[in-house]
Amino acid sequence: MCGIIGFTGYLDAKNVLLDGLTALEYRGYDSAGIAFFHKNSIQTIKTTGKVSSLRDKVTSSSEFTSTCGIGHTRWATHGGVSDTNSHPHTFGRVTLIHNGIIENYHDLELELAALGKHPVSQTDTEIAAMLLDSLYEGDAVAAIKKAIKRLEGAYAFCILFADEPEVIYCLRNGSPLVACQTKEGSVIASDMVALIRYSKDYFVLPEMHIARLTKDNITVTDLDDVIINPKMLHVNWDMTAARKGGYPHFMLKEIHEQPESIRSTIAPRIKNKRLPDFSADEIPDQVFDHIHRIVIVACGTAMHAGLVGKVMMEKLLRIPVTVEIASEFRYQDPIIDTNTLLITISQSGETADTLAALRLANEHQSKTLSIVNVKGSSIARESDYVLYTHAGPEIAVASTKAYTAQLSCLYLIAYHFALIKGTITENDCVKQIEELQAVIPAIEKTLTLADEINKICLNLSEKEDLFFIGRGLDYALSCEGSIKLKEISYIHSEAYAAGELKHGTLSLVTEGIPVIALATQSNVYNKMISNIREVRAREALVILITNGESDVDSSIYDYHITLPKLSDTMAPFTTAVVLQLLAYYTSVHRGLNVDQPRNLAKSVTVE
Ligand code: G6P
Repeated sequence: MCGIIGFTGYLDAKNVLLDGLTALEYRGYDSAGIAFFHKNSIQTIKTTGKVSSLRDKVTSSSEFTSTCGIGHTRWATHGGVSDTNSHPHTFGRVTLIHNGIIENYHDLELELAALGKHPVSQTDTEIAAMLLDSLYEGDAVAAIKKAIKRLEGAYAFCILFADEPEVIYCLRNGSPLVACQTKEGSVIASDMVALIRYSKDYFVLPEMHIARLTKDNITVTDLDDVIINPKMLHVNWDMTAARKGGYPHFMLKEIHEQPESIRSTIAPRIKNKRLPDFSADEIPDQVFDHIHRIVIVACGTAMHAGLVGKVMMEKLLRIPVTVEIASEFRYQDPIIDTNTLLITISQSGETADTLAALRLANEHQSKTLSIVNVKGSSIARESDYVLYTHAGPEIAVASTKAYTAQLSCLYLIAYHFALIKGTITENDCVKQIEELQAVIPAIEKTLTLADEINKICLNLSEKEDLFFIGRGLDYALSCEGSIKLKEISYIHSEAYAAGELKHGTLSLVTEGIPVIALATQSNVYNKMISNIREVRAREALVILITNGESDVDSSIYDYHITLPKLSDTMAPFTTAVVLQLLAYYTSVHRGLNVDQPRNLAKSVTVE
């Protein structure tokens, strides 16, 4: 979704802004723009399309110099994709960029129209600029505070006031903003990926606080004008993590990073290499006392990780676990109470619906635990407890390493909680932890199947519809395989519980329709083979995936991908890698933008 960068300091601001916007491209956007002070007046350059086009426009305006400005990548919500609707927006003395949505923009627009003020764009953002300008009487903070009282919705703003050169004001409610101060100046952005070239140390601007950025200082005040010192955070990755590192796409790089990201996620949580230990995460065993029910809430791929977590937890804990789509859950009057453990899963930690679901759970006084990749993100901060996935920055829109890191956390939670509840023995737990550790070399081996998978994808890339089928854990993986393929190859695909096929979908299975059949689970293996025979009888093109060698009748498949043998419960890890590679190479063969698929955004900070 939209990206924000702001800089004031001792460097060429135009370059800082353009580099920041390039770093933020992965979030998904359709236009970009910057505004900066040039000789004490504000210049704005914006365009639809890529940051590279904006860079060309800026380069051809080389008469401008600047050390202070703001930049934005826009993912259209209100108003179509056009130069006019791109940010920054200027009205009177106010120029601003905005992430989020002003929900009451229409009412505000009518009020402003009564004063004879009319926008030129169709955006909610321009209305915010107009509102601020109408409230501004020479005191920026006073105007911002008045505007806050009028604005409804989620937002992050960076604002330039024409009569206060070299200063940026920022404010946020819901949408994230992170900032750092270095000897080169003050930088603020919508995420750390844009700041990392300046610092590994940063802070999250607290909600409903105002930051004032000058060249040498960032002052943060609350709405009573009290100066606060936000908590400093540190990331342990650097610029190289945010670069492709020799891979043609971030997605492929991130797929290959999975052995390391799983190792980094599980190693600090395994005591003496044997048993789960969450003490460094400050999660006391008492969290699990009196828990009668677990509700996992997430969106997209993170929700699919939850589907695997449900199977594992119910199996080990023998208490009901439900997996809820966050955008549905929050409007369903959910049945949650103080004996519910609500687990939110989110790579970004900022997904608007997941955050809203968490807030709802907090209102119901449920215990909340989140599995989050981004340190200091809203979901992490608002949860009672956090288990960070240590996957490093995930840049490709299609989530890969975050997914398997999320699975690792869910497995650890299941083991840890089961030990506390006494539903598994210490010996069993040690065995399961060993199996979890064995996933790492197994993924390394699975990655060597890339060429074989690539060849299959040449065939898949010409198809327009396909199906993923599986049972049990393989059904959960089918859901993930299907979304991955859809996201980046634009091929229509559906995931089905294999036993459900004959209740409708089988009518769509005809000659040559690809069916990706996951058969990694031994308890349903024979049933799965029967289901594959059903689609084969309709002349489907079958791609069979098994956990280790299998003496399956070769007439029932066209391609057979043999995963390195793992226990059934660990097969999701290697299966996920194969499904990621299937999606990846299919997208590459179709010549698509793998890392930034059309219409999608990495971090969905609006409802
Ligand atoms: C977007 C991304 C997906 C991601 C989902 C949830 O749709 O494109 O890759 O799974 O949001 O994001 P989160 O940051 O909450 O994991």
